[in-house]
Amino acid sequence: MTKKKDKNNKQQPSTTGHKWDDNISEYNVPAPRWWLIVWIVCIIWSFGYWYFYPTWPTGDGNSIGKLKWTQANQLEESQAKIDKIRAKYLKQIEGKSFKEILKDKYLLEFALVGGKAAFKENCAACHGTGAQGFKGYPNLNDDDWLWGGKIEDIYTTLLYGIRSGHEKARFNLMPAFGRDKILSKQQINDVTSYVLSLSSKDKFNENGKQIFVQNCVACHGKNGKGNQELGAPNLTDAIWLYGSKHEDVYETIYNSRYGVMPYWSDRLETAVIKQLAIYVYSLGGGQK
Ligand code: HEC
Ligand code: HEC
Repeated sequence: MTKKKDKNNKQQPSTTGHKWDDNISEYNVPAPRWWLIVWIVCIIWSFGYWYFYPTWPTGDGNSIGKLKWTQANQLEESQAKIDKIRAKYLKQIEGKSFKEILKDKYLLEFALVGGKAAFKENCAACHGTGAQGFKGYPNLNDDDWLWGGKIEDIYTTLLYGIRSGHEKARFNLMPAFGRDKILSKQQINDVTSYVLSLSSKDKFNENGKQIFVQNCVACHGKNGKGNQELGAPNLTDAIWLYGSKHEDVYETIYNSRYGVMPYWSDRLETAVIKQLAIYVYSLGGGQK
């Protein structure tokens, strides 16, 4: 419909003869050729689509179509492709040494991405999503290590755990000096003060030092710097697994702690544990 223009144009196309409101009439013009062609192509294409793809509604969904295409199939196919690539890389990670993996840019990247995902799934509940740790659960971002920060140390920790019940688990037990009546409360108070003075400006306690030398150096070392062979923390670095307050340290010495880290050798594929070791190692505190 077009509004008839009352101009002196003699080339006006003819109208269909219908008139509305006396001065509105309709031109009699065929649809443009390009439009017709597009229209016909669309109809032909729709037959093809109809034949090959699931289009025709039936009672229980759609007809299958010649190609038997479904969204689920397509997803499965691309998943299978991804799994194949993943399996190839995992196999390489399993077969290669840490040294070789760290040198291979692509393998390393793959290991870090996989390790990060596996960490979220298996470790974050105890160590935090950013591996920042909580009281009793060590921060894995710093360079303070209970059991060693070399990549092989971390790998061993992951394979067998700590006090996990696995026969190869890392194991060492700090005595419960108070509960087992090895030291009196006063003695524990003194040694607590001495331990705190190693990393702060707290007053030095001579009696506490004597108790330390007699009871603690076997594991924590003469200067209190710890021993990674025994999982005994450094007591001089102001990094506290169980808190820095007098009562926190007192509690550790009185009752001992027995921190448990599960083992993963039976639960995760070797390649995934290796990825995890590489990921943890990469967090910043890894030792050469
Ligand atoms: C149930 C809680 C828990 C889970 C889950 C857990 N951890 Fe631990 N993890 C611990 C505790 C507790 C310790 C400290 C044990 C100790 O006092 O020696 C620890 C220690 C470690 C250490 C040694 C740190 C050091 O300073 O030497 C590493 C490395 C580690 N965890 C990595 C992991 C990774 C990787 C995962 C996931 C595969 C994981 N942990 C899952 C509780 C857990
Ligand atoms: C048999 C070895 C052993 C002896 C002896 C020992 N410790 Fe420990 N100590 C450990 C271990 C292992 C840990 C880590 C405990 C855990 O994670 O469960 C620890 C942890 C600690 C902590 C906690 C550190 C932190 O970061 O929170 C303090 C404090 C401590 N010991 C002080 C002492 C004092 C003081 C003595 C002597 C009276 C002593 N220890 C004797 C092995 C020992």
